[in-house]
Amino acid sequence: MEHPDDAAVYRMPSGDRMIVTVDLIAPIVNDPRTFGKVACANSVSDVYAMGGRPLTALNIVCFPTKSLPYEVLHEVIAGSMEILREANCPLLGGHTVADEEFKFGFSVTGIVEGGETWSIDRAQVGHVLVLTKPIGTGVVNKGIKSGKLEDDSPLVLEAMRSMVALNARGAVAGRAAKASACTDITGFGLAGHAAQFAKASKVTFELHRDAVPTFEGIRKLIAGGTVAGRAKENWSAYKGRIGGELSENDGLLLFDPQTSGGLLLAIPESEVSTFKKALSDWELGAHVIGRVLPRQAHDLVVK
Ligand code: CO
Ligand code: CO
Repeated sequence: MEHPDDAAVYRMPSGDRMIVTVDLIAPIVNDPRTFGKVACANSVSDVYAMGGRPLTALNIVCFPTKSLPYEVLHEVIAGSMEILREANCPLLGGHTVADEEFKFGFSVTGIVEGGETWSIDRAQVGHVLVLTKPIGTGVVNKGIKSGKLEDDSPLVLEAMRSMVALNARGAVAGRAAKASACTDITGFGLAGHAAQFAKASKVTFELHRDAVPTFEGIRKLIAGGTVAGRAKENWSAYKGRIGGELSENDGLLLFDPQTSGGLLLAIPESEVSTFKKALSDWELGAHVIGRVLPRQAHDLVVK
């Protein structure tokens, strides 16, 4: 528990590393099938963030039997099965409890064969930071919940495409590009996870705000006040760990909580083209958003 890695690692007698993780979330979209896909991609992501590939999954469900029909659960599971198939990860079983609020997710077991797992304590000075998905899903979720965004608006559809996308490709590209360390961007937002990452590695991350990719229209929504409550909590919790100038709106963007966000990897600068090539037709982008500096006063410096 020294630093919050994405998953637990168990060294097996063979020398391979077993990766064990669990994650469940409350609905963030209205469509049950899409929610199942997002929850599943989100649960599997921590295995990829450790540099592994998933082997098996167990389903965990808290279901409000009194307020929702079972058909909803059926659809959610069907959506998640599509993603598990894509991940080549069989579902072995699961457990359901009756609860007032619907929550859905998986415990996923993965493996790293031969090599080392990635961890957040190994970012090397001189390496660059690459991010494999745009940020802004917290703003989108808030926009949906508050009725500001329609389910079929281009922004919502784009964010959905991103949230259902497995981080498998980013993990493979990271291996090809000799990544030293990695995490996935989730509830603490890009800046929160980056700060944890830098602290664990005993370095400072320089983050280039203009290089950070967002879904089209996110900055405008933030300026108009569509902000996830968690973004403010994240920012106030991490304020003291961030150097450089950060406007109110930049802070709310960089701390926007992500659901099924992208991978943030530290790779040698000379490997950026290898990384991009390995991702080739990955539509969500692979952006160099900063670099790893020797340790300074702050975990993160925004430029
Ligand atoms: Co994670
Ligand atoms: Co997680």
